[in-house]
Amino acid sequence: KRPAGAPDKSLARKVTKVGVVGAGLMASQMALLFARRLEVPVVLTDLDQARLDKGVAYVHAEVDKLLGKGRISGDQANRLKALVTGSLTKDAFADADFVIEAVFEDMKVKQKVFAEVEAVVSETCVLATNTSSLSLTEMGSELRHPERLVGFHFFNPVAVMPLLEIIRGHATDDATLATAFAVGKSLKKSSVLVKDAPAFVVNRLLTRFMGEVITAVDEGTPLEVADHALDDLGLPMTPFALLQLVGPAVGLHVSETLHAAFPERFGVSQNMAKLVAAGKPGVYGADFSLDPEAVAIFSGG
Ligand code: 3HC
Repeated sequence: KRPAGAPDKSLARKVTKVGVVGAGLMASQMALLFARRLEVPVVLTDLDQARLDKGVAYVHAEVDKLLGKGRISGDQANRLKALVTGSLTKDAFADADFVIEAVFEDMKVKQKVFAEVEAVVSETCVLATNTSSLSLTEMGSELRHPERLVGFHFFNPVAVMPLLEIIRGHATDDATLATAFAVGKSLKKSSVLVKDAPAFVVNRLLTRFMGEVITAVDEGTPLEVADHALDDLGLPMTPFALLQLVGPAVGLHVSETLHAAFPERFGVSQNMAKLVAAGKPGVYGADFSLDPEAVAIFSGG
């Protein structure tokens, strides 16, 4: 069955090579998924060799885990490792059909990345962004071909979460959208088409959810009580564990985007901002026990 709003799949273009801009955790997870499910070469780019090496090493380690679990054969593991390569220049994207960026959440940075990508790719190459909240329409405003920009928003952990939010920008055309849906299907994701709006749909809902937990703590509910209040609803993880998985800096950025768009409806937690400023990965320490300093920040300390 065709997902709601998806154009006819006959419009989809074939994808024979993928480019991924950024070699951070999200980008590396995406690179592995593209290689595994599309079985095409995937090139990662980043600003320096150390980051690239880290990204490729992450992919190799995940491939070894899949091999260890018996999910793939030794041959498949070798093939996957060979499919994912790193390059310091975007020239490696010249023959790519689908380039996705997962760089820092900053509009100017993303616009610059796409300007550089557009200078090397073919006119029909799809440009996709994994942004968690920024406007597609603004991101594409300086492109020569904004009709091939589409939002392709994965959820953490990329290998596991079935959901894929596909965002149609103001200019996105049907061929681009059809290609995005076809790629989503090959990746075995459940794609939903959403409008270009601040934080789209999923992060808008999650931000409300997280915001209310944080407010409860602000108002005096002990953090460990608020974090475990929903345990018996069967959610896969507690709200503060989810914040840690996503990363407080990403959570903060999404809430800032929503606050800028809807100031009367979304606030920005000062405690979350303090947690980010303190460089904490979340409220839990390495052994999953609460980090007293992080808890003190959330509790107004
Ligand atoms: N990479 C690859 N595989 C991973 C992984 C990762 N980072 N994390 C977990 N997995 C795999 C495990 O290897 C395991 O696989 P197996 O069954 O083949 O052995 C499987 O997932 C289950 O993992 P665990 O047994 O360790 O743990 P859980 O059963 O508790 O599941 C979880 C972990 C999948 C993270 C689950 O807790 C969950 O679904 N949590 C909710 C996550 C969520 O809501 N994500 C969305 C965040 S919002 C977002 O990303 C948007 C952004 O814009 C902010």
